[in-house]
Amino acid sequence: MFRLTTALLWALAPAATLAARCQWSHMQDATDAYLESQTSGKPYAMFLSDKVVYRENNRVISPTVGIITKPLAIAHQHRLYDQDGCATYTEQIVTDPKNPYVIGTQLHFDQLAGGVNVTGIDSIVTTTGDWLFNASKTLSHVLKENWDTIDSDSRADRATLKAIADLYLDLWGNEKSRVPWGMPCDRLEGSAYTGNGSATDSCAVGIPTGPQPPVTDRRYVIDESVGSVSVLCTMGTMRNAPDSHEFRVENGRLRYVHTMTVMRNETALPRMSRVRRTVKIHG
Ligand SMILES: *[C@@H]1O[C@H](CO)[C@@H](O)[C@H](O)[C@H]1NC(C)=O
Ligand SMILES: *[C@@H]1O[C@H](CO)[C@@H](O)[C@H](O)[C@H]1NC(C)=O
Ligand SMILES: *[C@@H]1O[C@H](CO)[C@@H](O)[C@H](O)[C@H]1NC(C)=O
Ligand SMILES: *[C@@H]1O[C@H](CO)[C@@H](O)[C@H](O)[C@H]1NC(C)=O
Repeated sequence: MFRLTTALLWALAPAATLAARCQWSHMQDATDAYLESQTSGKPYAMFLSDKVVYRENNRVISPTVGIITKPLAIAHQHRLYDQDGCATYTEQIVTDPKNPYVIGTQLHFDQLAGGVNVTGIDSIVTTTGDWLFNASKTLSHVLKENWDTIDSDSRADRATLKAIADLYLDLWGNEKSRVPWGMPCDRLEGSAYTGNGSATDSCAVGIPTGPQPPVTDRRYVIDESVGSVSVLCTMGTMRNAPDSHEFRVENGRLRYVHTMTVMRNETALPRMSRVRRTVKIHG
């Protein structure tokens, strides 16, 4: 009797674990609906529910006053799907000269419901005045990169991808952090590119040296199929600016980094003038 019960519990355990994984198709539908809402500026009811926590530039606000109520012509979007974390990330670029935006949005889903219901919308919204902002220039760089699916036999696992993202972000606060730099590696910082497409491009350029405040409040979306991690966070070095970092890993090494940093209304940045001494960014 006892044996049977134990066997039964073992049999049930994997099923319970699987139920926590969110369905790709549910998350895809919700992300489509999110982008339709953003394009029309008329959010679907599911995003306005009081069960959804709406965060914009690291502040919880009402979605009724959020960017989602402003119709935007999205010229480019790129997505990550995280079935274990029950979340998606979408990079959106809006090149309309009157309303330019580069936005990074994480959608978080109810794990128990298998990804049917959205529980959180978390966006970093950058526009004119933000760090190195120029949407059309950002787009021109993004279109030259390859973020395609990675062959299943050469994928890094979830823990490795998260660790690499953390090692990079840990450089602020711990300059000895050992990042597995790829060669080449290109960083798109706002609209500024660290590389020129050569085989020797490095993402290590422009990383601050000396003691820096850490990168905090990290929220992750991890997609092994494209070797990518989205982290929304707070950049201590840039006066606690709301920030988005997205990483692409190939063969266990960092290949691309995209950043968005909200800097509107910032005039003098004393820390940055010291930090940026080492910057060598092309066009
Ligand atoms: C999803 O949300 C709707 C509306 O709030 C609710 O009626 C439904 O029960 C939820 N579904 C699950 C599976 O939790
Ligand atoms: C954005 O960059 C493009 C070059 O890619 C340049 O032609 C344009 O003037 C820039 N826009 C602004 C507002 O600086
Ligand atoms: C690209 O940058 C590398 C490193 O800075 C430099 O050696 C190389 O000459 C550059 N190539 C081009 C085509 O500009
Ligand atoms: C920037 O400052 C203006 C004027 O004080 C204010 O209306 C606006 O909300 C601020 N923008 C941000 C992004 O903080």
